[in-house]
Amino acid sequence: MEKKQAKNNRRNFLKTCSLSTFPFLIPINGINKMESNKRDTYKTTTPVNFISDGLAMSPNDYLLKLQEINQSKPIEADFYGNGGVLTALEEKFAKLTGKEKAIYLPTGTMANQLAIKLLNGDNTKAIVPENAHIFRDEADAAQSVHNKRLVPVGKGKPFFNLADLKNTIDYLYSNEVFKSGLGTIAIENPIRRADGTLVPIDVIREIASYCKEKGYKMHLDGARIHIAAAYSKISLAEYASYFDTVYISLYKYLNATGGAILCGDAALIDQVAHQIKILGGTVFQNWSNAAVALHYLEGIEKRWEEIILTSSKLIADLNNMKGISIKPITNGTNIYNMEIAEKIDLKKLAIYLYNEHSIWLGRANEEGIVKFTINESILTRSLEDILIAWKKGIEKASA
Ligand SMILES: Cc1ncc(COP(=O)(O)O)c(C=O)c1O
Repeated sequence: MEKKQAKNNRRNFLKTCSLSTFPFLIPINGINKMESNKRDTYKTTTPVNFISDGLAMSPNDYLLKLQEINQSKPIEADFYGNGGVLTALEEKFAKLTGKEKAIYLPTGTMANQLAIKLLNGDNTKAIVPENAHIFRDEADAAQSVHNKRLVPVGKGKPFFNLADLKNTIDYLYSNEVFKSGLGTIAIENPIRRADGTLVPIDVIREIASYCKEKGYKMHLDGARIHIAAAYSKISLAEYASYFDTVYISLYKYLNATGGAILCGDAALIDQVAHQIKILGGTVFQNWSNAAVALHYLEGIEKRWEEIILTSSKLIADLNNMKGISIKPITNGTNIYNMEIAEKIDLKKLAIYLYNEHSIWLGRANEEGIVKFTINESILTRSLEDILIAWKKGIEKASA
């Protein structure tokens, strides 16, 4: 009974995480359960995947990458988060975001929660987007661990604007009898639960200038900020300039197996290491994540220019194939809505692409839409090869 419940929760977790886009042949309990030996026998070990943020490397690919990095320059280990490649990564992120300091944390969840806790000081409330990871996916850590109350804003919308924020603040101040302070406003950009939608820069600017005037602090959940920068052409430094703290994931677009970076003023960042220790998050060595993240950070802007160019050609050519429709999302980034005509069997197509070409395609959602996600795996194969595979796949699946 308990086992069944755990399984259901896991399924529900995957569903609410928008991972219903898992490719057909990957067991629902995860990419790691895939037959990794089989993956490694493909002509190229890197699958071209249209489902995830990053390269979705197998353990074998990951180890090979670490070897390659180590051979070009020996990786220097860190010691409980200090020194070596970890310090190099932190310094690089501080520079990139224009902040005084950056610190490595084991998870983005911890980075978000500690940022809010420290920015808030004695204030008890923080306003966060209703659809944000901070609000929906962090197990009420703010309330249960840090004594902070998260107040949601913008329910039913991809992002909130200044008017929504003012309404929420007015409501709090006019309806709550015992006043306790509001300390921080958080924004997530791009927004995972809105298929990677961008928060328009004017909206961020307006909110930031209001918060500055009122003395509220601002935190950015920029887990995927690289993708926001790539599609909006707004630099990480400009995005970061509107916020007191910025968190960036090391595994979404930098292909590490985990880890997070939090950037901000030295006075705040200097308090973070102690907080990580209190939470039991001080990991002995973190170099395997830091080395891979640092490697993929190098040249990321240039690569994404190429990815965007290549993917627009790919999408245009796929749209020219009968029965395929791939459309962008309003204010979107790298996630598109793909629809397949009824005469093409999506399952057959996906299985053929997976088995014969190591191309991963997700499942359709209840509306029949496949979330077609672009990432840097498309640079690992020629456009021609990808298109030939699709053409053959459509033929086979149309029979
Ligand atoms: C927008 C966003 N913020 C934060 C996180 C948390 O990252 P982590 O898994 O490192 O805790 C995620 C992870 O999915 C995310 O999508």
